[in-house]
Amino acid sequence: MTSISVFGLGYVGAVTAACLADNDHWVVGVDVNPAKVQALESGRAPVLEPGLDKLVTAGRKAGRLHATTDVVAAVRESEISFVCVGTPSLPNGRLDLGGVARVCEEIGTALRSKKQFHLVVLRSTVLPGTSRSLAIPRIAAFSQKQAGVDFAVCANPEFTREGCAVADFLNPGITVLGADNPAHLAPLTEVYRGITHQIFATSLHAAEMVKYVCNCFHALKVAFANEIGTLCRHLDVDEQDVMKIFLSDDKLNISTAYLKPGFAFGGSCLPKDLRALAYRAKQLDLRLPLMRAILPSNQAHLDRAVDAVLATRSRRIGVVGLSFKPGTDDLRESPSVQLIKRLLAEGCRVQIWDQDVSLGRLVGSNRSFIEEEIPHIGALLSTNLEEVINSAEVIVVGAKTPEVNAVLVRKPGRRVIDLQAIEPHLPSDAASMYGTSPAADYENPAARFVEASASR
Ligand SMILES: NC(=O)c1ccc[n+]([C@@H]2O[C@H](COP(=O)([O-])OP(=O)(O)OC[C@H]3O[C@@H](n4cnc5c(N)ncnc54)[C@H](O)[C@@H]3O)[C@@H](O)[C@H]2O)c1
Repeated sequence: MTSISVFGLGYVGAVTAACLADNDHWVVGVDVNPAKVQALESGRAPVLEPGLDKLVTAGRKAGRLHATTDVVAAVRESEISFVCVGTPSLPNGRLDLGGVARVCEEIGTALRSKKQFHLVVLRSTVLPGTSRSLAIPRIAAFSQKQAGVDFAVCANPEFTREGCAVADFLNPGITVLGADNPAHLAPLTEVYRGITHQIFATSLHAAEMVKYVCNCFHALKVAFANEIGTLCRHLDVDEQDVMKIFLSDDKLNISTAYLKPGFAFGGSCLPKDLRALAYRAKQLDLRLPLMRAILPSNQAHLDRAVDAVLATRSRRIGVVGLSFKPGTDDLRESPSVQLIKRLLAEGCRVQIWDQDVSLGRLVGSNRSFIEEEIPHIGALLSTNLEEVINSAEVIVVGAKTPEVNAVLVRKPGRRVIDLQAIEPHLPSDAASMYGTSPAADYENPAARFVEASASR
């Protein structure tokens, strides 16, 4: 049994407090609103949430659930404090972190008189970096204690949905725990013992970010389904039937496919079909901003790659991978072709290697596409990967094949811009300069799966 204080008895805090008490922990809820404290103390749920009243009553009866407005007592009597206060939007969209800051200051002040190590867990939704830049310094300043020695801050974002929050808490999809030092996560893993199927231990920043990724994706799914539904209705197609069929494909549609950050998409189908849909929607006078934003988003991603290469100020560029994806010689609307065209226009000397592309074998629309885009492509293509890499100041990896990895591993110190995210076995000095270096993530010992069992 762990003793826990929960700051904020709103939708997240009340459910967290009651469910943790149900999981045999000793819990005290803290809120600035005396009505919520009073409600919990009298065995009633402070917010409306199915199943919560029952858990609160049971927790009170068992003597495991309490509530107070006394921060010092709550901190003194607990080993872990969960921060569940609101983080609303300001009118300009910026997150209002005033509540989180105040709780951290209060917990810090209370820690001054506490000798034992204390864990503070940020459960409120905050942008990556908040724990490190706001929570830790505030607690340190107000407690006059040292982070990592006297106290630690972990991130544990909340994934429950209002209306079924208790059921979600007791049967979560994932539980994400973030810390600078993985050792600080041990007591938290204990807190969730028996509740969760999958605990992911990761860095503070990653834990904070996962929450935003999830909500962003959920919102994207709703908007996507609604735009598809709108288009279907105007095309006299049964949208429910279409989506039922679409959802049945768990190989490409409802799956992990296409969800790995990498380079821009291209090829003979996606751009063409998106254009056709956007054009038809325009003819129908339909406003489908999400659908219309996909190609510009892809273009922006390609622009970032061009900028990353030009930012090196190197002019001898080796490009590995020309077709729109490995395993094909289809060059139509390949993002690599667009990237090379832009680099050539900027005065770069480009040499290209692609094991799947042989000019002599290209026929039809594929051949006419490349002849139109880069007429002197023949002079740029080489069949010698080693030579392309040796003669380049910067190597742009568009297609990551075992051959490419094998050669790059033998060339430590080469500047590599990996458009597909670098593989863990690439040398770390062949660091990606395209956005953040994914190599660092692969090497992060905290980013690992730590538990895969459920007893509830
Ligand atoms: N509502 C949800 O379903 C949900 C789901 C996932 C994540 N979140 C995130 O969780 C956080 C909390 O959301 P919520 O909906 O529970 O908020 P809420 O507004 O319902 O509850 C916040 C509570 O914190 C209390 N509070 C404010 N300052 C305090 C202080 N200094 N000390 C103690 N208590 C204080 C308030 O009185 C209030 O009761 C937010 O960051 C939100 O984005 C919410």
